[in-house]
Amino acid sequence: MRLSVIGCGYLGAVHAAAMASIGHEVIGIDVDERKIASLSQGQAPFFEPGLQQILSDGIASGRLRFTTDMAEAHGSDVHFIGVGTPQQKDGYAADLTYVNAAVDGLIPYLREGDVVAGKSTVPVGTAAELAERVTPTGATLVWNPEFLREGFAVQDTIDPDRLVAGVPAGDAGERAADVLREVYHTAVAKNTPFIVTDLATAELVKAAANAFLATKISFINAMAEIAEVTGADVTQLADAIGHDARIGRRFLGAGIGFGGGCLPKDIRAFSARAEELGRGESVSFLREVDAINLRRRERAVQLTVNALGGSVFEKKITVLGAAFKPHSDDIRDSPALDVAVALHGLGAIVTVTDPEAIDNARARHPQLNYVADRDEALTGADGVIVVTEWDEYRRQLPPEHAASLVAGRVIVDGRNCLDAAAWRSAGWEYFGMGRP
Ligand code: UDX
Repeated sequence: MRLSVIGCGYLGAVHAAAMASIGHEVIGIDVDERKIASLSQGQAPFFEPGLQQILSDGIASGRLRFTTDMAEAHGSDVHFIGVGTPQQKDGYAADLTYVNAAVDGLIPYLREGDVVAGKSTVPVGTAAELAERVTPTGATLVWNPEFLREGFAVQDTIDPDRLVAGVPAGDAGERAADVLREVYHTAVAKNTPFIVTDLATAELVKAAANAFLATKISFINAMAEIAEVTGADVTQLADAIGHDARIGRRFLGAGIGFGGGCLPKDIRAFSARAEELGRGESVSFLREVDAINLRRRERAVQLTVNALGGSVFEKKITVLGAAFKPHSDDIRDSPALDVAVALHGLGAIVTVTDPEAIDNARARHPQLNYVADRDEALTGADGVIVVTEWDEYRRQLPPEHAASLVAGRVIVDGRNCLDAAAWRSAGWEYFGMGRP
């Protein structure tokens, strides 16, 4: 099939390359000339495991191309909309400028029978509005939310847990659902659940999934707060409740909380949309989810101050991690960097290291010191804090080796990812989040 993908950020670039890798002819379109130049040369503009390979293979095969010219969307069977929906500057609602611009820019090039498939995370009701603009062209607008996780984006795109297709009622909608089945032929052949809904349900599935995940993390972080005043251990608590199959252990990692380009903005946008719909009270708990999440960053800072004897002023602190999660160079709303910046604000001499995100971090927070080499970053530190659970820190940093580099053996485990007993027996004072 011929596909166009409008918006070549984390979502669109991966989608375009993944679709080419399963045999489609794909044109990726974005207004950012630098991004398009890089992608056209088969160079991933950001770090995402596996992307570089499928991108260069796609370009070499001739099935994958990139352009800034929307006219090249003409002739595609399906046009995916994968542009960003950031948080508005002056509020919590989603900014739909890019979605509207993408759809309006595409409309002149649509043909009768084309499918326009929205993938961006949008407030419920957006698709119905867009459909009013698209339908007169004879194309069909559907909503096909994306559930990919950064760090696993390629795998999640090619082999998702489920596919959701929100389509309009009637023949055109049914045909469009069949077209999407054909697009995702490899996943459909593996019997991946393919759920056909109306437009509003598809939009809500995405908002609900992210709200649930965020709530799960804040729930365990709330338990960490209780653990902190009772001497209980939240990691054991999570293990024990996680054995209940109805609860499950995943996403019960207490620590400095969630960040990134999706969960924080999406729960805020969901709250804002619910308010607009007169149902703010239905998701008012999401305000609490957000508040608990942000408190964890402060808690990590306080824990570090306490661990270093009540003040971090002029203390050398090594911050292990900058990305909002491992396997990513993404620093959007990164709890790791918030903690680093706060410690710097308290007068600490902060050195940040990260396997992938240093360049992005330096561009955003030039006031911090950055050292690419982990061991060099650790050398001479009075205290260390782990804020992104990369394997380089979690599995591949023996506490004895770290001890030989630092000036003071104080470690704060902002992700509860270290073996506390091993660090203590190597002479470290270990502080976890919600752990005695
Ligand atoms: C998320 C959703 O998982 C994905 O389905 C959606 O499409 C986009 O948003 P992503 O932002 O890539 O994906 O990251 P995710 O793996 O969900 O992690 C989000 C944040 O939660 C990270 O900062 C991570 O460190 C944190 N987290 C995750 C925890 O603090 N504890 C956990 O147990 C799990």
